[in-house]
Amino acid sequence: MRKQFIKNIKGLVQAGEDLPEVVRAAQMQVLPVIENAYLALEDNEVIAYGPMSEWPGITDWRDVEVIDASNCYVLPAFIDSHTHTVFAASREEEFIDRINGLSYEAIAAKGGGILNSARKLAEMSEQELFDAAYIRIQKMIAAGTGAIEIKSGYGLSTEAELKMLRVIQQLKSSCKVQIKATFLGAHAIPLAYKDQRSAYIDLIINEMLPQIAAENLADYIDIFCERNYFSTDEMCQILEAGQCFGLKGKVHVNQFSVLGGIPAAISKGAVSVDHLEELDASDIAALAKSNCIATLLPGCSHFLSIPYGAANELINAGAIVALASDFNPGSAPSYDLMHVLSLACIKMKMTPEAAINALTINAAAALELQSTHGKIALGRRSPILLTNEIPSLAYLAYAYTEKHIQRVFI
Ligand code: NIG
Ligand code: FE
Repeated sequence: MRKQFIKNIKGLVQAGEDLPEVVRAAQMQVLPVIENAYLALEDNEVIAYGPMSEWPGITDWRDVEVIDASNCYVLPAFIDSHTHTVFAASREEEFIDRINGLSYEAIAAKGGGILNSARKLAEMSEQELFDAAYIRIQKMIAAGTGAIEIKSGYGLSTEAELKMLRVIQQLKSSCKVQIKATFLGAHAIPLAYKDQRSAYIDLIINEMLPQIAAENLADYIDIFCERNYFSTDEMCQILEAGQCFGLKGKVHVNQFSVLGGIPAAISKGAVSVDHLEELDASDIAALAKSNCIATLLPGCSHFLSIPYGAANELINAGAIVALASDFNPGSAPSYDLMHVLSLACIKMKMTPEAAINALTINAAAALELQSTHGKIALGRRSPILLTNEIPSLAYLAYAYTEKHIQRVFI
């Protein structure tokens, strides 16, 4: 048995037996921290924690690794509830196009964007895609990510969507972190269906979904509900079809425009609505009275130079706000959730407490992992982070290029 005793922890964050399953409104500004604390792990399971003054002592010190965490914080690993980690290749040629003045939407209109990634992915084998994604996931873990959602959506044909989802299934059994798979066949209309979009939607519903369900390849279903992509009605149609196979929605909405996708997704029982760079008052009101999680992706706003989601308006209205990376080669080529934390504080004016709640408890809920992830509690085995020596928790967001993670317990 592997025993670890972490002592003199400056602050043990998000640890407790009766922490809420989701955090909303004024609670977002409160982050439980036990000062001068200890944490004991046995084969990564939390067996004891509390203030050093209440440490009961160890009777058997054999095989115990003692870690002195003076001036360091310990917190639950961050949860990345929205990523596109399986992809063929980076897209810096489009990055240069944007530097030269083209918008993300203009690049997509000339056959770039998602269709560019789909062309490249069609030529790659399952093994090649797996190998590349496996390396990315090891880097994500080292950067402090403790559970990951991964979407398909660069296939856009039955064969290639199934290929992506099989890769994700392989990653689930090979990686140390929990992974959830989301079917995103409705990421873009493929060129071959340019003038027959309803035929592509039929293909998603009547061919892709039944096969995916039969092979148990997806946990959730996603649609890119956006002008030039899928309408709100089309999203609802696909969400209903997903429901028939037991797949709940986690949808891309309101990235560039307000199409009524948020209230519609809520009415179809979506677990989360993600992006939300553009919001109107009725969207905020709908989220405030729902349990659907509002997932903001500031890395995408940063990289595409588009507006940031109105985090504090959502929080103050009472919505459940989470943060994620949106890691993908087109709009957010970074998996670094520490950077997401900094952007949330610097650009969205979230407090560090709110942003950490959004990356732990609420992000775990966005993957329905609230009973295992997002907090430190007795009996849990989910990944835990030890920071370097830092003066305060706010410093994690403030020193935005510094390396903060000393060690990941996984
Ligand atoms: O979440 N907006 C839709 N999908 C991705 C980007 C996909 C891409 O450009 O490859 C996103 O931003
Ligand atoms: Fe995305």
